[in-house]
Amino acid sequence: DRTLKIAPSILSADFAAFGAEVRAIEAQGADWVHVDVMDGHFVPNITFGPQLVRAIRPHVKTVMDVHLMIAPVDPYIDAFADAGADILTAHVEAGPHVHRTLQAIRAAGMKAGVALNPGTPAEAVAPLLDDVDLVLVMTVNPGFGGQKFLHPMLDKIAALRAMIGDREIHLEVDGGVDATTAPLVAQAGADALVAGSAVFRGGSVEKAGVYGENIAAI
Ligand code: DX5
Ligand code: ZN
Repeated sequence: DRTLKIAPSILSADFAAFGAEVRAIEAQGADWVHVDVMDGHFVPNITFGPQLVRAIRPHVKTVMDVHLMIAPVDPYIDAFADAGADILTAHVEAGPHVHRTLQAIRAAGMKAGVALNPGTPAEAVAPLLDDVDLVLVMTVNPGFGGQKFLHPMLDKIAALRAMIGDREIHLEVDGGVDATTAPLVAQAGADALVAGSAVFRGGSVEKAGVYGENIAAI
């Protein structure tokens, strides 16, 4: 299904009120809840793990879209499945055996995603497309919310959309997505938009301007 999915990132939510925060974004029309897992090793920041997914899962019906910025990935796959993750995305840069990781994610009953850092070319995922349900293009360097969108990534998004072709694979964009950049990434071919600071500092999904008329107008 290629209808645009909006995935607010709870990295920019109030950490003392995750239950209320995810209920609020669901009520505002969020399709997915984007959960940014960081280990202080693959990226220079630490956030949360499977326990948080388990804690927020009963609060909403939305898809739990979990973005792992950790290395290694494989020892934690079952814990995220048990916690209620629906989509589990690993970085192509996170280890030497990403194909094995993606197969293990599907074997654990989740949808498998593969993410690319800004410095990684689109071609890095070409051999993986039969084993993924989602490709995530980072449009900032992973690790922190509130960074500036990297415009050269628009060509990479378009290249990946062409590479995906007719396959049932979501093309998700993450980093610096706001009312100005959302129409650009949608036009380049993205069908899932992550937005952290635009949603949580903007006041609501609607005020962030990352869907609806703003996108339809392109
Ligand atoms: C960055 C995370 C993003 C981040 C996006 O490493 O993967 O999901 O929360 O935040 P904004 O939308 O503020 O750029
Ligand atoms: Zn993310």
